[in-house]
Amino acid sequence: MKKIALITSGGDAPGMNAAIRAIVKTCLYYKITPFGIYDGYKGMMEGRGRQLNYSDVDNIIQYGGTILGSARAEEFYQVEGRQKAICFLKENNIDGLIVIGGDGTFAGAHLLGQEMKIPIIGIPGTIDNDIFGTEYTIGFDTAINTVIGAVDKIRDTASSHHRVFFVEVMGRDAGFIALASAVASGAESVLIPEETTDILKLVENIKNQGKNSSVILVAEGDDAGHAIDIMHKVKPYLKEYELRISVLGHIQRGGSPSAKDRIIATRMGNLAVELLRESKTNIIVVVKGDKLETCSISKAIKQHILPDMGFLKLIEVLRKK
Ligand code: F6P
Repeated sequence: MKKIALITSGGDAPGMNAAIRAIVKTCLYYKITPFGIYDGYKGMMEGRGRQLNYSDVDNIIQYGGTILGSARAEEFYQVEGRQKAICFLKENNIDGLIVIGGDGTFAGAHLLGQEMKIPIIGIPGTIDNDIFGTEYTIGFDTAINTVIGAVDKIRDTASSHHRVFFVEVMGRDAGFIALASAVASGAESVLIPEETTDILKLVENIKNQGKNSSVILVAEGDDAGHAIDIMHKVKPYLKEYELRISVLGHIQRGGSPSAKDRIIATRMGNLAVELLRESKTNIIVVVKGDKLETCSISKAIKQHILPDMGFLKLIEVLRKK
């Protein structure tokens, strides 16, 4: 293993820079050349990348985003796109590849691994925490802390004005961010893609909670729609209430990573290089309890992970007066 390429791909997540730093420094420790490719698979297809050194990763552990850039590259899911990427990897004598990202990133890595004999290791990096096989993905802790910071502020104004707020958080396919943030911020209700939303039940909950101010967290992928749609759906039944929405959006993806994200990202980055040195391939690094283990990429992308649905009951119990 003389040269290892790395990419960050898909939605960026706080802690990706910590993982890049750990990969680069671990490579250099073992006299392996780290080769950074810009903007994920897009840069791989366009032939954009370069050798990295200590100076590239000095003082980046505290920054959100990714110094390598990221992208969602549809063309990579076509054979022609991957052929361009393979040419670039071959031209640059890449012996191993580390991909940091979410399920789309791993699906791309799986396809690449079938067409090119190159060892590939995945590192789960997405604020959504929705990768099968791992209890944790880089960025989740920072994102939920951003959400609860925002909800705390919203609650100040919600209670002052006796208003009901629908706060929309990220999670196109998964409710991990909404559920964890709801518990941590004391939200009165939470709506997630994994559970069918019953508008009349939601109305009853708002009416029965014994106060006219509340916060309802809505995952953007909820089946009843975005926060604004849900607000319009409940409005006819809640004429005496003042309703407002707040969409937190991409602030959830930014900011300085939490200690947890920095530590896990650093451990994962280091382990990914160690695994390539041991000739391991087609696996992702996963968190199980306090330990880092591995899971095959094919398994991780084929199975869907559910959040802890027990949180819904917890929120219901705590809502009651
Ligand atoms: O994949 C993470 C994620 O933050 C999702 O929760 C969200 O739906 C999506 O990215 C937004 O992606 P984009 O930045 O392309 O709008």
